[in-house]
Amino acid sequence: MTDQRSKAIEFSHQNRQKFLDKLFDYIKFPTVSADSAHKDDMRAAAEWTIERLQEIGMENIQIHETGGHPLVYADHLHAGEDKPTVVIYGHYDVQPPDPLELWESGPFEPEIRDNKLYGRGSSDMKGQIIASMGAVESVLFAGELPLNIKWMIEGEEEIGSANLPNFIEKNKELYACDFVLNPDGGILGEEIPAIPYALRGIVGFEIELKGPAADLHSGVFGGAILNPANELARLVAGMHDENGRITIPGFYDQVQELTTEEREEMAKLPMGDEYFKMNSGAPEIVGGEKDYPAVERATARPTLDINGIFSGYTGEGMKTVLPSHATAKITCRLVPNQQPETISAGMNQYLEENVSSGVTWKLHKGGGAVATITPIDSKEVLALSAAMKTVWGKEPNFFRIGGSIPIVADMERILGVVSVLTGFGLPDDNIHSPNEKLSLETWYRGIDTLIHFIFNL
Ligand code: BES
Ligand code: MN
Repeated sequence: MTDQRSKAIEFSHQNRQKFLDKLFDYIKFPTVSADSAHKDDMRAAAEWTIERLQEIGMENIQIHETGGHPLVYADHLHAGEDKPTVVIYGHYDVQPPDPLELWESGPFEPEIRDNKLYGRGSSDMKGQIIASMGAVESVLFAGELPLNIKWMIEGEEEIGSANLPNFIEKNKELYACDFVLNPDGGILGEEIPAIPYALRGIVGFEIELKGPAADLHSGVFGGAILNPANELARLVAGMHDENGRITIPGFYDQVQELTTEEREEMAKLPMGDEYFKMNSGAPEIVGGEKDYPAVERATARPTLDINGIFSGYTGEGMKTVLPSHATAKITCRLVPNQQPETISAGMNQYLEENVSSGVTWKLHKGGGAVATITPIDSKEVLALSAAMKTVWGKEPNFFRIGGSIPIVADMERILGVVSVLTGFGLPDDNIHSPNEKLSLETWYRGIDTLIHFIFNL
């Protein structure tokens, strides 16, 4: 190892407690982007972010208004023009912590149990941001940065990053770079280093049915009046056929099928039914299309999932009511070539053709993003792969992520740059769920990996 490299690694090991303290501070901001009640918390967290960037020696620090939650920029551009420029991406927003009663410690009161740090955003992705900052701080402590760095830390990823593309479009120079490092991904297990090479796209909907003018006595009117909850249940049940295929018109028209070679590679990954069972706690792995293995169903096939469905009385005991409204929140995960607009049009057609005249309906369309694939033979991915090999002592697996990071496609479209995906979350980290956690051992390995990655470039 070069002097600077070993000095940087040593610094990061000596500063683990400090990095951890920073992560505690960061998690304490309840940065729920979906909830307007947290508007001020979002700004406070953005301000904390710039302070931390300042501490690690970054310059030209700015908070930008995008129309939504604040966007943080900073840079360090002293490596010279012959050295690559990287945009390091992060999002300081988190998903809502509900249901609160299932958390063992408060979602915004970080707590370590069994060498795991519990708290909303610990894994997705405040932990990944603090790891990236710690890595850069360590390298800079040990000498000069061997590359130019720009930071893009946004507050709206968990609600679809709707305002960011427009801002990038107007500030192309600000984010001009050779590639993006996006640590919002993950690995496959504590001892299974891995590099993601694809993300699914997404499109979101809310379907609202209205029946009678007000809630009714289900004995006085039940039978004569169509119940919006019954009708919504019928409609959403009809969105899959008996083989688990989605029935929305045109849903599969644009799907790019996997090649035989890629299917063979995917079959070798440690992502069989056991993996999904172990990491989910589900009794059997039977969701989705019958004719595909779980690894393909969860990462390379499109899906339709209800994320929330509500109507009528959900409190304790019995209430014989015929509700006047029913709503379902739905998202579809998309694979390469599928366009959110096409899926929206299909959903609209499905409702036109299937909703009974006994209710009125509205389809609200949420944000969308297309799927992306990252080439795995670039020098950046090789540098990352070598870094993981150094830290874990084994070659990483290459896998597709079933989740979405909308800005990855936008950076490609607007700036023509590829995002190298990484991140040190685990599949059982409970992201978007109660008791989200971060494995600290894995996190420390992640910081080391990022340091090696910077030098390998
Ligand atoms: N970090 C996740 C993406 C991810 C998911 C990485 C699973 C690794 C494994 C990201 O923050 C995320 O959750 N994105 C949202 C985007 C959506 C709200 C537009 C998602 O996928 O649901
Ligand atoms: Mn997330």
